[in-house]
Amino acid sequence: MFDAITIKKTGQPQAIVVGVLKGKGLGTESKKLDADGSLAAAAKRPECTGDVGSIAHAFPDKNKPAGRVILLGLGDAKSLTADTLRTAIASAGRQLSGVKATSVRFELDDALKAAKLDDGDAYAAVGESLGLLSWRCEDFRGSVAGKNPKPKLAIIEGSAALTKALKLGMGLAEGANVARTLSQTPPNIATTDFMAAEAKKLSKLGCTVRVIKGDALKREKLEGLINVGKASENEPCLIRLEYKPARASKTAKPIVLVGKTMTYDSGGLSIKVGGGMVGMKRDKDGGCAVLGAMHAIAKTIKPKVPVVALLCTAENSISDEAYRPDDVLTFRNGVTVEVTNTDAEGRLVLADGLCWACAKEKPAAIVDVATLTGGVVVALGSTYAGLWCDDDKLRGKVQDASDAAGERVWRLPLHQEYKDMMKSPVADIINSNPNRKAHPIQGAAFLSYFVDENIPWCHLDIAGTHAVDGDDGPYIKGPTGFGARLLARLAEQW
Ligand code: BES
Ligand code: MN
Ligand code: ZN
Repeated sequence: MFDAITIKKTGQPQAIVVGVLKGKGLGTESKKLDADGSLAAAAKRPECTGDVGSIAHAFPDKNKPAGRVILLGLGDAKSLTADTLRTAIASAGRQLSGVKATSVRFELDDALKAAKLDDGDAYAAVGESLGLLSWRCEDFRGSVAGKNPKPKLAIIEGSAALTKALKLGMGLAEGANVARTLSQTPPNIATTDFMAAEAKKLSKLGCTVRVIKGDALKREKLEGLINVGKASENEPCLIRLEYKPARASKTAKPIVLVGKTMTYDSGGLSIKVGGGMVGMKRDKDGGCAVLGAMHAIAKTIKPKVPVVALLCTAENSISDEAYRPDDVLTFRNGVTVEVTNTDAEGRLVLADGLCWACAKEKPAAIVDVATLTGGVVVALGSTYAGLWCDDDKLRGKVQDASDAAGERVWRLPLHQEYKDMMKSPVADIINSNPNRKAHPIQGAAFLSYFVDENIPWCHLDIAGTHAVDGDDGPYIKGPTGFGARLLARLAEQW
């Protein structure tokens, strides 16, 4: 949509976006812009409904105060949240792009006052929305489609506080966009080594990056990664990133973020059939979200708490060396797993990440993010990610971060009965119960065997929310980067 968004203190914008609430006329600030009555006239037109994202254009005389004013519907005052603002601003952004505007100013004061939405939260949402809207991945267009030049957009904003909020939102969106570009990158390019190289780029932002692979994986007994990745010529690895705040106390415990990073999920020997394999390049999106969060954390948020990221990276492929149904794997924490289905591979690599986190990172809390089950898509669609967290305090923090990011999570249960469903007649546990009951919960129940009881832990299943089928608010068809902004907000609000 836009190639680059910049913020300028002064200047005459080509367009002004004025927020209008449903059922309310122009407010005092908006009226100041209406010397010739063209805004009032536009506000009376039928398309100016005030519904979220509704648009009416006004063209004031002699280009004062701008050649074009866009009246943007923000819905009812009482339901105006950062999330509705993200949706509405995306609608305005599409208009700005459509009319090839290269500079814009936002006049939201009247609406924000009436709605009692905090100015900072609102302008962060504006920055997020425009940042997310600006994402395109043209890297794989060739000589036929060609590369489409994207215009630049300058936001004119005089207030230092609002500029700071806009920049915060844009930094969060940039993190999400890092995740989206990686998600979009096809599996013949985004191999395990490629993901490690992408992670290493964050050392420029001050992160420490380490890649555990080959013999080191064996030494560290990372059995899930070794086995799931065995059949691929692209070797599995555990990618570890660390962000340390400038003035961290030596004893400060980190938040540990664990991401499923399956560069491709063919299902392995339990091969995916009937079109189920297409799109499995996005089975790395948990790890991509974690990497995107680290980008926003290191570059923009700079939280007071240390953060460690663990990307459990492998390709679930097929060869004569593939791990099989019936194999028994012994994990680092001593738990033995009977493999019943090689397509339930995400939990096996995450188990390594969780064991590692508990044994080596002294975590304040662990949050794992994964495109773990098709079942969560059946249960919650693309509206909510599944959340499992029995620690009230951590759950509260994750919920707050979710609210701030507008990345919705819905709690699902983790009762002992579900953990019992994972018991094996041969080993300790199975990786999937073939009875197909409560699939997304089985995933969480399996993972619970790899987290020490006294460590607060949250599991997010993003299989339904990591991508959208068509234009949706600030998103276009494709990856959403779901989790990147939520996790960055979690670190910010810790
Ligand atoms: N990567 C898939 C889950 C998935 C499905 C992600 C759809 C995104 C969209 C996962 O590894 C998987 O194959 N899950 C199986 C588990 C089953 C074999 C126990 C599933 O959900 O069907
Ligand atoms: Mn699978
Ligand atoms: Zn998978």
